[in-house]
Amino acid sequence: MEYLNKLVSSINAPVSISNLQLNNRVVMAPMTQESSVKHIPGKVQVEHYGQRAKHGVGLIITEGTVIPHASANGHFNVPLMYSESALSGWRKVVNEVHRFDSKIFAQLWHVGGVREAAMPPEVGVPAVTPSGLSAPNIPNGKKLTIKEIDEVIAAYANAAKNAQLCGFDGIEIHAAHGYLIDQFLWQATNLRSDQYGGGAKNRYRFAAEVVTAIRDAVGPDFTIGFRWSQWKIQNFSARVFQSPEELAPFLQTVSEAGVDVFHTSTRRFWEPGFEGSERTLAGWTKAITQKPCIAVGGVGLGNDFLLGGPSSASQHVYESLIRGLEENEFDLIAVGRALLADPAWFSKLNQRSTQNNNHVLA
Ligand SMILES: Cc1cc2nc3c(=O)[nH]c(=O)nc-3n(C[C@H](O)[C@H](O)[C@H](O)COP(=O)(O)O)c2cc1C
Repeated sequence: MEYLNKLVSSINAPVSISNLQLNNRVVMAPMTQESSVKHIPGKVQVEHYGQRAKHGVGLIITEGTVIPHASANGHFNVPLMYSESALSGWRKVVNEVHRFDSKIFAQLWHVGGVREAAMPPEVGVPAVTPSGLSAPNIPNGKKLTIKEIDEVIAAYANAAKNAQLCGFDGIEIHAAHGYLIDQFLWQATNLRSDQYGGGAKNRYRFAAEVVTAIRDAVGPDFTIGFRWSQWKIQNFSARVFQSPEELAPFLQTVSEAGVDVFHTSTRRFWEPGFEGSERTLAGWTKAITQKPCIAVGGVGLGNDFLLGGPSSASQHVYESLIRGLEENEFDLIAVGRALLADPAWFSKLNQRSTQNNNHVLA
């Protein structure tokens, strides 16, 4: 299992993104837990994130956090990125993660049309969306006016400032998976004909304005991440961008607005981004923007730590990961479910490689 040694050396290489030094290439993917009672992070969240930091994860991205806008939330017990009690809870989470020399970004989330009006904390407030749709042809909530769009953008900036004041090392804008920002990007949920809809350039104006407003609020030295995806919770096979040529102007625009690191959300990171090339979607993101990029999807899902070690299916995934990192196709790998199932996933992977070496030497 020579590849395990290679893997461990590739993923343990330190890396810097903007002005942050990360101890290794492993990122905890953002994962909603619905466990912040009444939307306030507490001891459970300190323990949850602290455990992953203790076991060596270089960068933690929090679950989606609610920005200070009445229609932003779509779930019970999802933590806020506003209010004194929520921010006080986040300060404790940040301190705990820093105690283990790991870094942490807050993911900023507005669910747009996915909200149901009965959802707390602002019970009764309807969803807001680009065109009054939660999914293609499925009406929900109200269409945003230009003034209301400005208010939502300001809420993103306020959330980012709150995260900065809590001591977070950066923020990640959740522009993926069919939530508000992605509803503007997606032709099927953006039927507007003003400056925020119609042609491709108009559809990514909202995303770019969110980045610009956040950059203005946090200054030049605070790290801004941007997560995007082709797939949507409303449709796993949706494709907003049909080719690298279509993707490039979007990514270049948000990059120039002030993004430091991209996070390309795919369900299997090793799959080609577009027909005609083996390059992954994370690889295209990095090639287009020349900025650091996080890949994600499908790492650590085999029974890697059972007797006998990783299966041949895991070997294929890990060999793709080594290749992606060594060939600079992407810089970091986010791990979701494997780290949710086992906070010690990363330290066990490192141990497995050491055991493997000892076995060979014996
Ligand atoms: C329980 C759960 C909650 C998730 N919540 C979020 C979220 O809040 N924000 C987000 O961008 N992605 C979310 N995701 C997607 C993950 O970040 C990740 O992209 C996905 O799980 C694929 O990675 P994996 O194969 O390593 O699990 C969630 C995934 C899971 C399993």
